[in-house]
Amino acid sequence: MTEQRGNWTSNAGFILAATGSAIGLGNLWKFPFITWENNGGAFVLVYLVCIAAVGLPIMMAELLIGRKTQKSAVGALREAVGPGWGIVGGWGVLCGFILLSYYTVIAGWSLFYFSKTIGWTVGGFPADMQTGDLFGTQVSNAGLQLTLSLGFSIATVAVVYFGVQKGIERIAKLFLPILFAILVLLLVSALGMSGSGEALGFIFRPSFSELEPGGVLEALGHSFFTLSLGMGAMITYGSYIDRSQSIVKASAVIVVLDTLIALVATVIMFSVIFSVPGMEEQVGGSTVGMLFISLPQLFYTEVPFGTLLGPLFYVLVALAALTSTISLLEVVAAYVIDEHGIERHKATILCGSAIFVFTIFAALSFSDVPLLATMELFEGKIGWFSTADHFVSNWMLPTGGLAITIAAGWFMTREATAAELADETAPGWFNYGFWRFFIRFVSPLAVGAIIIAVLFFGVDFS
Ligand code: PFF
Repeated sequence: MTEQRGNWTSNAGFILAATGSAIGLGNLWKFPFITWENNGGAFVLVYLVCIAAVGLPIMMAELLIGRKTQKSAVGALREAVGPGWGIVGGWGVLCGFILLSYYTVIAGWSLFYFSKTIGWTVGGFPADMQTGDLFGTQVSNAGLQLTLSLGFSIATVAVVYFGVQKGIERIAKLFLPILFAILVLLLVSALGMSGSGEALGFIFRPSFSELEPGGVLEALGHSFFTLSLGMGAMITYGSYIDRSQSIVKASAVIVVLDTLIALVATVIMFSVIFSVPGMEEQVGGSTVGMLFISLPQLFYTEVPFGTLLGPLFYVLVALAALTSTISLLEVVAAYVIDEHGIERHKATILCGSAIFVFTIFAALSFSDVPLLATMELFEGKIGWFSTADHFVSNWMLPTGGLAITIAAGWFMTREATAAELADETAPGWFNYGFWRFFIRFVSPLAVGAIIIAVLFFGVDFS
């Protein structure tokens, strides 16, 4: 009944797949926006500290739990930590389910903008184009939203259907190099723009007086989301690693690449924005505004070679999103395969379809379909889309992350974790005692602070 579990064919294949999971809308959509909102500089520095002090240790913890047990989230936590801990894995699977249900909708927008920008490149940018109105019309068009998100869901299912080697790893090996190449091209063009100096100053020159305490928490919360932590994605990917690979080295590479890409994306976007006088005032307001309203306009009216860079940029967003959605679906599918003995093909289609039912609600969150009004659980939020985002970012990822740090730091024995991390393949710079200190004390305290902020101070990370 239990079919043989897949394994990554190579270390590079695994690293690319995990990096693909980490790099996503969080890097291209959310990070630039929160950097903008928090006035750059000091925020970026704090973010780097959070990534190193909280993200990296938890990344190692998740991968080691996966590799040790060779099981997906639920089974892995149950076996590595104790019978009751399967619930934490289940919480992660639920989180993957919910997160994927709305992530696909934003990913679908990148398909829309890709086709739009291709159209503008070929046929010219309409003189009277208002990109703000365009965004409004596309999100409220129920048929369009359903088509886009269905297309993206089918692509995601199609990859996971073929399994770890022939699906996930193959796509990561193909798409990530393309993604890196597009980013380098965009970066080179961005650095040539008049606003690049100002952009670099904004991002890298810290001014601590401009950073508010909420910004620190936001950096911390985002470090989970961007590294795909707190919900068992890395446990699941870790379960396909064989023992010859160093978890420490792999974690470091994934974390560094994810951070680098977030910074590069921010430099690109801010260089474009700072190159246009008066643009700074117009950008503010929303994440959506920067990626889907300001940038399309700027590519076609201000940016040199923007007609070529525009479509490339949205391919980049779509590729980054796809390598993340496949990891989200894999968390859910791997659970169903491992725990319920359902064969991969069937499990993938089953999970993909079940999640798509919720995607329908997310896709219609911005339309005026009457039923959706009943989904409005949080004041001022629109439908399932925001409700789900609110719940995942504020509650599910931090609580899942806290449970995983406690599991790895306090419930697993020193011998068990040391055997996975401090093995002969671990790089020389790694110090196990350091890791243990961070996972036992620093990470739980930091994640605990997020939960307290949400609980008692009404901070909202979504
Ligand atoms: N890391 C992804 C991003 O930055 O967009 C989001 C994500 C993907 C979170 C997969 C969790 C996950 F399992």
